[in-house]
Amino acid sequence: METKQVTEAKWSHGKTIPVKNVQALASNAVELTEEAIKRYIRPARTTDVVAHGGQSIPMIDLGMLLDPQTYRLEAARLKSACEEWGFFQVKNHGIPDTVLENMRNNLEHFFKLPLDEKNKFGQLPGDLQGYVLDWCDRLYLVTQPPHDREMRPWPSNPATFRESIESYSSELMRVTGSLMQIIASNLGVDLDRDTYVSQALRMTYYPACPVAHDKVLGISPHSDISILTLVWELNLVEGLQIKRQNAWVPVKPHPKALVVNVGDFLEILTNGKYQSIEHRVTVNPNKERMSISAFHLPKYDMSVGPLSGILAGGEPKKYKTLRVDEVAKVVFSSKLDGKKTKDYAMFST
Ligand code: OGA
Ligand code: NI
Repeated sequence: METKQVTEAKWSHGKTIPVKNVQALASNAVELTEEAIKRYIRPARTTDVVAHGGQSIPMIDLGMLLDPQTYRLEAARLKSACEEWGFFQVKNHGIPDTVLENMRNNLEHFFKLPLDEKNKFGQLPGDLQGYVLDWCDRLYLVTQPPHDREMRPWPSNPATFRESIESYSSELMRVTGSLMQIIASNLGVDLDRDTYVSQALRMTYYPACPVAHDKVLGISPHSDISILTLVWELNLVEGLQIKRQNAWVPVKPHPKALVVNVGDFLEILTNGKYQSIEHRVTVNPNKERMSISAFHLPKYDMSVGPLSGILAGGEPKKYKTLRVDEVAKVVFSSKLDGKKTKDYAMFST
């Protein structure tokens, strides 16, 4: 079996772990049996509760948020999406179609390259050795601020890929900046731009899994460490599910919208007013899935704790003030499993 040596970037503190390439594993139809993929099988999945039909995550219109005529109404909808859901979709984001198309074409091209070619670039491990593995391959890049970039893992094949990533990354910074300004205003606080100046992109390829799609997971349940994560489900295949009232609620990909979710750092800043929500990714029996998660994070050497404006009413602090790099170290050195940051950052009650 082929393995790849992976080196994690700044945000994950340079560990090196060999993991199998799931796409290569999945493409070998002859060898693809439940036995061959036993490290990916999760017996507990058979008892999952999935909420079909009914609720779907709120849709927020960025165009309306940026128009003074419609601002108030839409900002109130955003507030309730952050308080009640922790997850929403955003349409009218203003990202030019060409930026999205270039990014999609380049990423599809990249994932189709031979394994040797892909392995020239750094990839994030599917998971730690000894654990049940996630059914996906990932490309993880630190993209912002520009001086934090380490270019070696940025693919130069296809030739336009770096340029596409650059444009996509700055468009997402713009959308995040707009959302964060309105979120700050909804919270009645001043928010330093340093709280969302860093960005990392995780591009994920989930092969189809005809033998055991209902027994593997594309990504284990976790919450994101970020302030805000923006996910683009670029080939519109379902798979993302969020935990709500003890059931998994599927997110239906929308051709014109990005998925946005509250991350752990925003939960800490808001002293728990906005909660990060656990989510996971399931795998399709016949269709591959691709997504790009953009994690927006505070400046690496910043300390983050509940905002004084939030605590103005004399509310007690529920979370410690911690350095961002310290939290990142703890989270990235452990298996994805539920709300890790919360266990670490919360005062015990
Ligand atoms: C993640 C994540 C969701 C998706 O990368 O943290 O939750 O749809 N991704 O791929
Ligand atoms: Ni996530």
